[in-house]
Amino acid sequence: MVNALRQILQETSSDAATLDSVAVQSSSPTQQGAFIDIKNVSHHFAQNHKNGSAESNANLPVLDSVRLQVQPGEFVALLGPSGCGKSTLLRLVAGLEPPSAGHITQEKQPIKQPDPSRIVVFQDPTLFPWRTVRDNVALGLQARKVPKEQYVRVDEALSLVGLTEFASSYPHQLSGGMAQRAALARALVNEPKLLILDEPLGKLDSLTRLTMQGELLKLWQKAGFSVLLVTHDVEEALFLANRVIVFSPRPPRTVAELQVDLPYPRHRTDPRFVQLRQQLLRDLGLSDVT
Ligand SMILES: Nc1ncnc2c1ncn2[C@@H]1O[C@H](COP(=O)(O)OP(=O)(O)O)[C@@H](O)[C@H]1O
Ligand SMILES: [Mg+2]
Repeated sequence: MVNALRQILQETSSDAATLDSVAVQSSSPTQQGAFIDIKNVSHHFAQNHKNGSAESNANLPVLDSVRLQVQPGEFVALLGPSGCGKSTLLRLVAGLEPPSAGHITQEKQPIKQPDPSRIVVFQDPTLFPWRTVRDNVALGLQARKVPKEQYVRVDEALSLVGLTEFASSYPHQLSGGMAQRAALARALVNEPKLLILDEPLGKLDSLTRLTMQGELLKLWQKAGFSVLLVTHDVEEALFLANRVIVFSPRPPRTVAELQVDLPYPRHRTDPRFVQLRQQLLRDLGLSDVT
């Protein structure tokens, strides 16, 4: 496990100035992904209401008996209307807060706090502006006081996302896509068993987004970690995921679950892809807009 990323990187770094040079392999992951079990998880937030001078407290139910398993190495995408509780579920899986009810386990062990084996990448890359790209990517290793000899992983991760030449740049010198690659490198350096992605490509222009989707796919195929992705983009979900879960408005129920029976790499014009896209849009109640 400790050397898994190094192994991946050695395989790819000889000619990998960018990820485009990394061939998509059918499935020969070098590391085991996490098995996540979300068991009847409910969550609410306390809310303060002010009616004139009177104040009352009420609970906002956000998740209601959610059940979901992510198998080792599986890529699961969550789709659902804005505000239905997707980010909340990801935060609970990350261990950033405990669920109000139910249990979440990783390898059958309760998730009680954040852990480097589960890394979250958000829509905003949240790089520290005063640190170089390399120093931003090294953050997790520094925080865990990993010995300096292992910092070779930082350069390896930068190479994997095609940012070697920009290692000494500062975040303001990067494009949106490059900043998000840096955020991915910062995640990968920790050799995660679960990558938790909360609309990670949501702010990128459409061309960069397509490129990054391809790169994310290659990273996942190489590394073998499990992925839990929240996206608003039906095509993105279909392009990437083994399984797509559709949530209803808050509190979300699973209204559809789709096993994507298409080999990788997928093609957006493939008739089956188009058919599945229509089906997901219907599940989201959006069939009228297409
Ligand atoms: N920390 C919080 N305190 C109170 N309410 C919150 C908090 N985080 C999220 N919410 C509420 O929970 C609901 C679900 O939010 P979120 O999980 O961010 O939805 P999604 O990611 O699906 O758009 C929203 O109504 C939001 O306002
Ligand atoms: Mg969200």
